[in-house]
Amino acid sequence: MSETPQSADLIVFGGTGDLSMRKLLPALYHCDRDGRLAPETRIIAMSRGGLDDADFRGKVDAEVRGSVPVDDLALWQRFLDRLHHVTVDIGGEDPTGWARLTAMLAGHEQRDRVFYLASPPMTFGPFCREADRAGLVTPASRVVLEKPLGRDLASAQRINDEVGAIFHERQIFRIDHYLGKETVQNLLVLRFANAFLEPIWNSLWIDHVQITAAETVGTPGRRGYYDHAGALRDMVQNHLLQLLCLVAMEPPSRNDRESIRDEKVKVLESLRPIVGGEVDRFTVRGQYTAGVCDGAEVPGYLDEPDNTPPTEASHRVETFAAIRAEVKNWRWAGVPFYLRTGKRMPYRSSEIVVQFKDVPHSIFAGSAPNRLVLRLQPSEGIRLDLMAKEPGAGEVALKPVPLSLSFAETFTSRVPDAYERLLMDVLTGNPTLFMRRDEVEAAWRWIDPILAEWESQSMLPEPYPAGTAGPAGAHELVGRSGRAWHEEELA
Ligand code: BG6
Repeated sequence: MSETPQSADLIVFGGTGDLSMRKLLPALYHCDRDGRLAPETRIIAMSRGGLDDADFRGKVDAEVRGSVPVDDLALWQRFLDRLHHVTVDIGGEDPTGWARLTAMLAGHEQRDRVFYLASPPMTFGPFCREADRAGLVTPASRVVLEKPLGRDLASAQRINDEVGAIFHERQIFRIDHYLGKETVQNLLVLRFANAFLEPIWNSLWIDHVQITAAETVGTPGRRGYYDHAGALRDMVQNHLLQLLCLVAMEPPSRNDRESIRDEKVKVLESLRPIVGGEVDRFTVRGQYTAGVCDGAEVPGYLDEPDNTPPTEASHRVETFAAIRAEVKNWRWAGVPFYLRTGKRMPYRSSEIVVQFKDVPHSIFAGSAPNRLVLRLQPSEGIRLDLMAKEPGAGEVALKPVPLSLSFAETFTSRVPDAYERLLMDVLTGNPTLFMRRDEVEAAWRWIDPILAEWESQSMLPEPYPAGTAGPAGAHELVGRSGRAWHEEELA
C-alpha cells in the first residue's frame, strides 16, 4: 500500500451513468485539481453509449463542469484529456469493445488497474468473467462494487462467489460512501482519540441512540431501481447499519485494514434478530404521498414522473423505514438503537444522536439529559448539549447549551466529498473503509427476516405526506417508551 497513487487506469463500468456523472467524475476532478492523480492516470468509461473519446469529453464538459470549481482552464483540460470511452455491451455479441479496451491497456500492466462497477449488481459477476476472459485481470487489479450488493443474503452470496471466483478478497472494494464522509471518520477519532468518552460509552450512561438519514429528494425517474429496492435495501442495510457499527463497536487494537472491520462484524452479529410477529412491533415502513417539500408542491411516490408507470411493486415499496434495533452484548444490553431514513422528509439531515441518561439524582428543576449530536450533513459538526445555569440573580434556571464544533468554522479547508476520499483509498489500495464480504452478508442476514415479513404482508406501507417526518407509526415506535425523535433543522 503506497500513500501517493502511482499511475493508474481507472475503468468505470457504467461510466456515463448518473453516479459517474454526479459523483465519481466530480470527485476525480477534485483529486486531480489537488494534484493527487499521477500524471499518466487515465479514466476509461465503459458503457453501451456508442461514444468515442471526443464525445465523452464533450459530455463531461457539458454536464460536469457546472458542478465543480473550474478556476483554471488548463487544469480542467488536463482532466478532460485523461478521459476515454469504450463501448461495451456485457453479454452482447460484439467483442470489439473488449478488444479496444485490451489494446488500450496493453503494455500498461505495471500500472494500478481498477475496475469500478457503477452498475446494477446483477452485472458484477458477468463483468468480472468477461474482463477475465479478455485477460485484463492482473494480480494487482482491484474491483470496486457499488451498493446495493444484491437484494438479499442469497443474491449477495451469489455475487460475492462470482466476483470472488475472479478476484481475491483483498482485491475487492465494496463501497459504502457513508464511510467516506468526514463526520463518520471523525466519529472514530472522537471515540478512540479522546479518553473521556469511553468510560461512559455504554448502557450505564447512554439511554438510547438515534441514527437518521432524512432526505428532501423524492425518487423522480428512479422507479425502475427504487420499486425493487426500497428504503430498507437502499439505505438501512448499508449506510445506517455501517453508522450503527461505528457507534457500537469495541475499540479496535489498531487502525488497520482488518481490525476495524473485525469489530464491525462483531456488532452486526450481535444485532438481535427481528423476526415474524416482532417485525410489526419493531419496524415501520411508509410511502410518501403528495405534499409540500422544500417549499414546493410535489407529487406522491406513485405519481412521480417516470418512463415506466407504477406497478404492484410501486404500491408496496417503502420510501421510509424506521427500526428499533438492539445490540446484544455487555456494552449495549437494553439500549435501543433507533434507525430512520426517508425520502421527502421536511429537511435534509443525516445525524447520529447519542442520548445520555438523566443525572441519577437531580437537585434542580428543569434539568434535561445530555445529548451528543454528530451531524453528517448538512453543516458537518459535533455538538454536546450540556445543562448550564441561565445568568440571573433569581432562582436557578437551567438551560441546555451547546458545546459545538462546526467543521466549516474550525477548519478552513474544504470538506471533501466522500467519494474523493474513497476513490483515493482505492487508488492507494487501502480497504479499511470498504466492506468485507462477511460484513455485507451479516447485514443481509439481519435484514432478510424483516424483508420477508414485509413482503408476506398484504398491508401496504403507511402513507405520509411529503414534507412531514414520516408516518405516525414512526412516532409511536419511539413514543412507546416515552422517547421522541430528535427533530432539528440546521442551515
Ligand atoms: C444512495 C442511495 O446510496 O445514497 C440514494 O441510493 C440516496 O437513494 C443517497 O439518496 C444519499 O446519499 P447522501 O450522501 O446524499 O446522503
